[in-house]
Amino acid sequence: MKNSEYRKRRKKLMDMLGDDSIAILPAAPEKIRNRDVTFRYRPDSDFFYLTAFAEPEAVLALIPGRSQGEFILFCRERDPEQEVWHGSRAGLEGACNDYGANDAYPITDMDDILPGLLENRERIYYTMGNDIAFDQRVVGWVNRVRGKIRTGVHAPEEFISLNHILHDMRLYKSRHEVSKLRDAATISAKAHVRAMKACRPGMMEYQVEAELLHEFMRRGAFSAAYPSIVGSGVNSCVLHYIDNTREMKDGDILLIDAGAEYEGYASDVTRTFPVSGRFSDHQRAVYEIVLAAQLAAIDAVKPGNHWNQPHDSAVEVLTEGLVALGILKGSAQTLIEKEDYKRYFMHKTGHWLGMDVHDVGDYKLGDEWRMLEPGMALTVEPGLYFPPQKGLAKKWWNIGVRIEDDVLVTKSGHEVLSRDAPKSIPEIEALMAANR
Ligand code: GLY
Ligand code: MN
Ligand code: MN
Repeated sequence: MKNSEYRKRRKKLMDMLGDDSIAILPAAPEKIRNRDVTFRYRPDSDFFYLTAFAEPEAVLALIPGRSQGEFILFCRERDPEQEVWHGSRAGLEGACNDYGANDAYPITDMDDILPGLLENRERIYYTMGNDIAFDQRVVGWVNRVRGKIRTGVHAPEEFISLNHILHDMRLYKSRHEVSKLRDAATISAKAHVRAMKACRPGMMEYQVEAELLHEFMRRGAFSAAYPSIVGSGVNSCVLHYIDNTREMKDGDILLIDAGAEYEGYASDVTRTFPVSGRFSDHQRAVYEIVLAAQLAAIDAVKPGNHWNQPHDSAVEVLTEGLVALGILKGSAQTLIEKEDYKRYFMHKTGHWLGMDVHDVGDYKLGDEWRMLEPGMALTVEPGLYFPPQKGLAKKWWNIGVRIEDDVLVTKSGHEVLSRDAPKSIPEIEALMAANR
């Protein structure tokens, strides 16, 4: 763990919050999967971003300018009996020695201690609405301080969401974060290669998912960043298909949208290829348009361009392609103005990427699309989808193509973090042919 990285983040945040404030951020609760079984614990991204602390039942308080200590952690105490079952805890000592907290208190004592920390602070940075029970506790603490007003203490009067400031920080990735994103994307690329090598007609979609997860896990990515989409044939046209239960047939196209989460950072990669290893003429025609759109969109990722420019570039290439295929009729410009392309490309070309797959950060500042700046990371993922439908020639049915890469904005333009996953038709066909 790089303590200095996290210390820097806390300092930067506290500088922005100001000396008369306090920020309160609870860890994510453990989640029940069924009865007494919990999901593998995944810390809240905001909480982990500021603490590197990965245990549940913890609360962070940041108190800028407080002479007795600015970084307070409430957490579980050591408990030998529990630790026999669940492994070791940091405890209060670990919170200070290993995570750099100035002070640590038992989480069970929080109701007694926190009101004191609020005294004489003007503003509380706390994001309401995630956990109603916790919201009520915070309000209760403030009321306790209000109750002491006659003793001369001030109670905070302003509640401000922590999201805006913290999420703007998270939008700009540090060198440490970029290296994690690069690792996550590289693992995903290797998993997509493995899937291409393993795929055969007659296999079930979930058997391909197993190949992806195997590659994630053996490289230390304990989870996918989101449920993997392995959609063959008609399922390639279902945007968030995650059943993965169909038998794949010769002649099907297969769309895989799967990304590893590695050390807290997400990747989000889509590749589309033929189950047989050879594109049919119609699949090839659609694929080449989506690939050209994706390359045009990636080209538009550079400082000085705004958020929506990659999308505009993709829409232009896709719409011209749909006209060239005879699927849409008319001038591309009019079709774009009337948004007719949305029948076959109904989502946006990307989103911010970071600790969360659909990462935090505003896309607009006021009414204007945000400018791209070095350190921002995003996906570029145009697609075309042709589920069976009236008015569309049958030869296009059941072809769904999306190509998605993870892209970092750099000073000189961009870096495609997931570049190790092949995406040109000759590369894909050669890789699959060599593994039959
Ligand atoms: N995998 C979800 C997305 O591409 O946004
Ligand atoms: Mn995706
Ligand atoms: Mn995505």
